[in-house]
Parts: sequence; C-alpha cells; structure tokens
Amino acid sequence: MIIQICVGSSCHIKGSQELVELLQAAVAEHHLEKDVTLAGSFCIGKCNRVGVTIQVDDTVHTGVTREGFPAFFKEHVLARLEGERK
Ligand code: FES
Repeated sequence: MIIQICVGSSCHIKGSQELVELLQAAVAEHHLEKDVTLAGSFCIGKCNRVGVTIQVDDTVHTGVTREGFPAFFKEHVLARLEGERK
C-alpha cells in the first residue's frame, strides 16, 4: 500500500506535517512498515477548506484532520490491509 500525503501549500497550511507524523507513529504502532510506503506528494488538485488530502493507493481522501485521523487510519488503512490479507 502506498500512502501519499499532500504537502502542497494548501494542505501544508492545514497540517500535513502533523499528519505525516501521525501516520508514521500509527504505522510503527501497528508494525506495518513492510506493508505501507509513506510518501509526500505535490498538490493533487483536491484542496479542501478543511484538512489535508491523502491518497491511499488509487483512492483520494480529502479533508483529513488531526481529529479525524484515527477513524481515517482505521477505515482506510487498517481495514483495507486486512481485506487484502483475506
Ligand atoms: S494542496 Fe493538497 S490537494 Fe492541493
């Protein structure tokens, strides 16, 4: 799985650096280093009024915030990886 965090200026202002850190911590906590590649990306063209754009493989998620991060990670990373393992 490749997770690309947008670090374009709009997302940067809305906290992409913090989300990079949250993602790194969550990947380490769940021992997913072999399953997940984290990368930065330039503007994906989906700037949102609130939150950061994060692309998980081919799916673009907009408006990810620090508060919404746990649900995002559970739903779009952990559940998806589990689905791939089945
Ligand atoms: S700056 Fe992130 S989608 Fe545009």
